[in-house]
Amino acid sequence: MRLGYIFTLCAPLLAAASRSEQKIMAAKPQDILADPFVASQPTITDVLTIQRPGNIFFDYARSLALSESFSNKSKELTVLMPTNTAVMKMDRKPNEPEQPGGDIQITEAEYESQSTENVERWVSAHVIEGRVSLDKLPKSYNTLLSGKTVSFEFSSDTSSTDDWKNVVMKGGKDDYDIKILNRLEAANGVIFVIDGTVSPSS
Ligand SMILES: *[C@@H]1O[C@H](CO)[C@@H](O)[C@H](O)[C@H]1NC(C)=O
Repeated sequence: MRLGYIFTLCAPLLAAASRSEQKIMAAKPQDILADPFVASQPTITDVLTIQRPGNIFFDYARSLALSESFSNKSKELTVLMPTNTAVMKMDRKPNEPEQPGGDIQITEAEYESQSTENVERWVSAHVIEGRVSLDKLPKSYNTLLSGKTVSFEFSSDTSSTDDWKNVVMKGGKDDYDIKILNRLEAANGVIFVIDGTVSPSS
């Protein structure tokens, strides 16, 4: 049972790994230049960069070492990218503490380090290892933030032929339905544009 579950999680990764190995073995140096598909398939970083200028999520993510993996082609990730509107609707900015500090005084250095940690937690809650598949729902996934999971389920409106349009995500504050607005494929993963934000608290 448990082994089966682990295999289900690993199978897409193994399949993807063998696909990319085949690609490497099949491609001779001249092929790489001749085949624009192989040469220019954009990474998650490339796709997010196109979403700029002014993509707030990417601006936060780029300040972290974690974002280096967005351009690592030997690692597959799913990024849940909130729209700017969704980020601006948050009660607190991603770097602000979840609990108001009250009268407790902290130094500027302490504030800086807490702030970096909060950004890290927030961004990590929006990244999942591997490519999320919307084939068999409902399904939960661990995010890179330890202990935080998000889940995908069919929405009540299942009329669209684009599978992702029929799916909502849970993992935000109060567990409201987060809509998926777009799916962007990258060489090393997939980006779901979402109309809400994932809450780092589980
Ligand atoms: C890319 O990811 C692989 C697999 O996780 C890792 O071994 C490698 O060190 C990473 N490369 C860079 C440049 O971070």
